[in-house]
Amino acid sequence: MITVSNLTKVYPTARGPVTAVNNVSLKVADGEIFGILGRSGAGKTTLMRCLTALERPTSGSVMVAGHELTTLNSLTLRQVRHRMGMIFQHFNLMAGRTAAGNVSFPLEIQGVPAEKRHARVAELLEMVGLSDRWDNHPAQLSGGQKQRVGIARALAAHPDVLFCDEATSALDPSTTEQILDLVKSINEATGVTVVLITHESEVVRRICDSAALMADGTVVESGPLAERMTDPGSQLADILLPAGDPSLDPAGRSIVLTFTESGTSEPVISGLTRDLDLDVSILGGAIESIAGRQIGRLRVSLSHPTGMVDEGAVRRYLAQRGVGVHL
Ligand SMILES: Nc1ncnc2c1ncn2[C@@H]1O[C@H](COP(=O)(O)OP(=O)(O)OP(=O)(O)O)[C@@H](O)[C@H]1O
Ligand SMILES: [Mg+2]
Repeated sequence: MITVSNLTKVYPTARGPVTAVNNVSLKVADGEIFGILGRSGAGKTTLMRCLTALERPTSGSVMVAGHELTTLNSLTLRQVRHRMGMIFQHFNLMAGRTAAGNVSFPLEIQGVPAEKRHARVAELLEMVGLSDRWDNHPAQLSGGQKQRVGIARALAAHPDVLFCDEATSALDPSTTEQILDLVKSINEATGVTVVLITHESEVVRRICDSAALMADGTVVESGPLAERMTDPGSQLADILLPAGDPSLDPAGRSIVLTFTESGTSEPVISGLTRDLDLDVSILGGAIESIAGRQIGRLRVSLSHPTGMVDEGAVRRYLAQRGVGVHL
């Protein structure tokens, strides 16, 4: 759906050029929920503005649904933009319009006749659970309800991609969960691809299939989460499934074990003790359902009562049982 290659965006400022996005490459597959996770100032919004052609990159390429955005003329660009929906942290609703009026707006712009518009607005308000709020103005709605209107408006013209920039950052935790679950259910029901920008790991953990980790304008790591979580050296895994700090082990010899469904049924820890004569101390761990799979990471410290830990033997023992290991 989206392929970004060597994308760089430099802003000239009074104090010299600022590189907001630095040589970023990534791929978002059709129909997936793709998270872009990073701290404030990492370049997430700038990247998204390039993906939606609101910003022209300094260099690099952005392909969305087969179109190279950086070379499109303005007419084609407008057509491609109609295939994109966007929702924002502060909802950006029109205060003078009702919920229905806000949802209807993009359809009016596209010249959809009134009768069809009415039917589509009814369908959308139903989809986001706001059928009874048709005539309410934004000031009469809670934050979560406003974002539901935002989602309905973004989906009005059947976009291929829904972009969300910190869409839940102004909401409390339980409303955040409801909105995320709504996005997930819409993604499953309609197949719309979702690109979700956030600084909250919980957002990525809850609904994303894939993610990119951004820092200082670059993508540090990206890919399907099921794959990232089982890569022992993954920084995304350290953020989403923190297994405890290495400094918990004074000897500095702790290891991280990665469990997936195939490996979790084996009594691996007792096996290390019984079969390899090792003492095992558990230092920390987490198990979560991520990208539809149960994945666990466990930091343990191994020692042998009399001799050395045979790292090769440990590695083989765990690999045979489907457990990933980072020694
Ligand atoms: N129009 C602009 N002119 C100059 N510098 C900019 C501009 N827009 C963004 N930047 C700079 O680019 C960097 C990345 O900003 P960006 O808004 O993309 O970060 P972000 O990851 O979205 O942060 P946040 O989580 O706070 O929204 C920052 O250093 C920012 O100051
Ligand atoms: Mg931002």
